[in-house]
Amino acid sequence: MLSITGWVSRVVVLFASVLATASIAMPGEWGEEGVTYGELGSDMALTCPGASPSSTMEWQRDGRSGLPKDSSAQQGQLLLPHVELSSEGTYSCYDGSGLLLGSVALRVGRLPGLPSVSCRASNYENFSCFWTPSVETLLPTRYVATYQKKQPAGTDQQSRPPVNGVGLCVQDPALPLSCTVSKSQFWSSYRVNVTEVNPLGSSFSLLDITVQTITKPDPPEGLRVEPVPLAPKRLRVSWEYPSTWPKEPSFQLRFRLRYRPVLYDSWSVVETAKVSEVITDAFMGLEHMVQVSARDFLDAGSWSDWSPEARGWPAAGQIDEPGEAATAITELETPAEEPSPAPKDEPVAGHGDSMEKVAVLVSLGVFAFFVLVALLLFALLVWIRAKKLSKEADKNCDLLAAATHLKALPRAQLL
Ligand SMILES: *[C@@H]1O[C@H](CO)[C@@H](O)[C@H](O)[C@H]1NC(C)=O
Ligand SMILES: *[C@@H]1O[C@H](CO)[C@@H](O)[C@H](O)[C@H]1NC(C)=O
Repeated sequence: MLSITGWVSRVVVLFASVLATASIAMPGEWGEEGVTYGELGSDMALTCPGASPSSTMEWQRDGRSGLPKDSSAQQGQLLLPHVELSSEGTYSCYDGSGLLLGSVALRVGRLPGLPSVSCRASNYENFSCFWTPSVETLLPTRYVATYQKKQPAGTDQQSRPPVNGVGLCVQDPALPLSCTVSKSQFWSSYRVNVTEVNPLGSSFSLLDITVQTITKPDPPEGLRVEPVPLAPKRLRVSWEYPSTWPKEPSFQLRFRLRYRPVLYDSWSVVETAKVSEVITDAFMGLEHMVQVSARDFLDAGSWSDWSPEARGWPAAGQIDEPGEAATAITELETPAEEPSPAPKDEPVAGHGDSMEKVAVLVSLGVFAFFVLVALLLFALLVWIRAKKLSKEADKNCDLLAAATHLKALPRAQLL
C-alpha cells in the first residue's frame, strides 16, 4: 500500500516531469514566429505557409542574390540539400501571378552537446551548479536543471527509486548557466541533471555530488591589518566570516592566514579557528601583505579562495637608535614581558611551532611508555618462566627427597 509520503512524492515527480516536458515541447517558445530551424549539413524542405501543396509557386530569398545553388522547388516545398550557414535567410513563396503567399525564415545550427557541469556549496544550506555548453550551437538555447536526492548510503541504490523525486534546481536569470538547490542536506548525495535544449533537440549531463565534498566557502571578508603599538615586529590581523556562511555553532569555519612583506616572494602561513591573529615575526619597517582563506571546521570540502589582500605596516620602532631598538626587541621577544597586553584568548602566530614541539614531546612520551610496557611484559614473562622452571626443579628435588625418604622410611617403619 502506498503511504501518503510515497503518494505525494509520486505526484511531485509527475508534476516535475510534466513541467520539464511541457517546457521542452512548447511550440513557438523560441520567440521567433515563422522560423524553421535546420541542422548544419542536413537536408531541409521548406513548406510554403498558406499554400496548397499542388499549387505552382516560385521561391525567392529576401535580401540575397538568390536561392542557394542546389535548391529545387517541388510540390509546394523548397528542397535545400546540405544546409550551410550561407543557406540562412527568409524565403518567400509567390503564386503564378506574383502574389506573396507566405515566407519562412531558416536558421541553421547544431544539436546541443553535453553540458559540462560542476557544483559547489558556498555554505551548508544551499548548493549551486554551473555549466558550460560543449558545442557552439548558434541557436537559441535553454537549460532545464533538476536534481534528485539519492538513497542514503547503505541502501541499494540500483533497485530502488530515489526517495524524494525530482526537484527543480532554480535558475536565476541574473546568473545565467547556473542554478541553486535550496535547503540541501549537508550529509546527502544528489544527482543533478542539466539538460541543454534548443530547437533541434536536447542533451543532458548527470552529475552525482555529496554536499559536504563540494563545500567551498566564500573567502572571509573585512580583512584588516593593524600595527600593534610599540611592537615593531607585530601586526594584528582581523577578518569576518564570509557573509554567505550562516553562523551556527555546529557549522564553524577555520582559517588560514598568509603574510609576507610586499617586497618578498615567499609567504608565511598560520592556521587559526579565530577571526583574528597577531603576527609576531613581521619585518620591522616593511609594508606587509596579508590574505586569509576559510574552510569548514571539520575539513569538509576544500579551502576557499584567498580573500583580497590587505596591507599594513608594523608600528614604527626606534630604529634610529640601534642599541635601544635591540633591547626593545629582545624585550618584545621574551614572552614574559608582553609589550601590548593582547587579550588573553588571542592566539599568537608562531604558536604553531610550540604546538609542534608539544606534539613531538607527547609522541615521544607515548613511545617511551609503550617501550616501558613492552619491557615490563618481557620481564614478567621471563620471571614467570624462571619461576616455573625453579618450581619444576623444586618438584624434582622434592621427588628425589621423597624417594630417598621412602627408601629410608621402610627400615625406620619396620623398626
Ligand atoms: C539558501 O537559499 C534560500 C532560498 O533561496 C535563501 O533564502 C537562503 O538565504 C540561502 N541561504 C544562504 C545561507 O545563502
Ligand atoms: C534529465 O532531464 C531531462 C529533462 O528534464 C530528462 O528528459 C531526462 O530524462 C533526465 N535524465 C535522467 C537520467 O533523469
